Amino acid sequence: MALTSLDGNTGIGGLLPGKSDRTIHIGSRAQPPWMVDVGPFPQVPALEMGHMTTCAIEISILFVKQGFATSKAVSKSAIVTGAGQGIGKAIALRLAQDGFDICVNDLEMNSGMVTNVVEDIKALGRKAVPAYGDVSKLPQVEAMVDTSVNQLGPLDVIVANAGIAHVQWAMDAKEADIQRLFEVNFSGVVYSDQAAARQFIKQGSGGKIINAASATKAAVRSFTQSLAMELADHKITVNAYAPGVVDSSMWETIDKGMGEINGLPKGENFQKTKSTITMGRTSVPEDVAKMVSFLASSDSDYVTGQTMLVDGGIAFS
Ligand SMILES: NC(=O)c1ccc[n+]([C@@H]2O[C@H](COP(=O)([O-])OP(=O)(O)OC[C@H]3O[C@@H](n4cnc5c(N)ncnc54)[C@H](O)[C@@H]3O)[C@@H](O)[C@H]2O)c1
Repeated sequence: MALTSLDGNTGIGGLLPGKSDRTIHIGSRAQPPWMVDVGPFPQVPALEMGHMTTCAIEISILFVKQGFATSKAVSKSAIVTGAGQGIGKAIALRLAQDGFDICVNDLEMNSGMVTNVVEDIKALGRKAVPAYGDVSKLPQVEAMVDTSVNQLGPLDVIVANAGIAHVQWAMDAKEADIQRLFEVNFSGVVYSDQAAARQFIKQGSGGKIINAASATKAAVRSFTQSLAMELADHKITVNAYAPGVVDSSMWETIDKGMGEINGLPKGENFQKTKSTITMGRTSVPEDVAKMVSFLASSDSDYVTGQTMLVDGGIAFS
């Protein structure tokens, strides 16, 4: 049985499992009366708005239970790690605009920024909850998932975005520097994915895992591919986004670190990257959030194991 929303306003679309080919058309809220076309049966007159809304919600719940695309008629929730600022903040706000309730993770020392993001999300009409924790510590990541599920309900999406940068010559890197980079940028992603995947499997209705990768996080790309194969049977997709040069506090750190090495004044290393970007401009966090919005939506249901470059054309895949 196929369900069609004539104008998209109902937020329902997709294919119900089963052998019937009957189609139910659900009309526009703006254009009553409602008509329900049940294929070979005569057209039945419209259901009242209240009834239709109930019907829409019930059908949406059915989709969720079957592991199909979620509808905006049912609330969805997402965790975004490192969401106090930069790319994570833009992702949290974008997913809130898309209809997600958001669990906002970052380090407790950034509680002021997290509080602001939580307030911004609430102003968009969605629920938001802070969950402080270091993603490189598994128990803290598990507590974050528990907080999200307890406060926002079943989990639909995790965005493992938290990351750090460290600028120095590879030959000068000390054991502690390398360890911390890998603890946050790789182990932090693994722990976030594991904790979310366990929750998705418990819920039994699929889920979406989205990881931050980049040239310096090739291990994340590789892990994303392995996990995508491992979790496909659970209707869980696993993808990554690889930003290019994004104007965020991370790039301030990179610009400063490079300046200390090559002597260029503040901001100069950031500006210099423009010559390597096909689109001719550096990126803003919202550029990346648009890709994550796609990866978090049902539009990407048939995409898994991919690392999506969002770099304005620095590298061609
Ligand atoms: N900015 C870029 O140009 C760029 C390029 C490629 C990849 N990335 C990746 O995108 C992601 C976001 O980058 P950004 O530019 O927004 O960085 P950012 O430094 O502006 O923000 C990162 C956030 O992560 C948080 N964080 C750091 N360590 C954490 C930990 N252990 N636990 C929880 N939170 C932690 C920080 O407190 C910060 O709020 C990172 O994973 C980064 O590696 C960024």
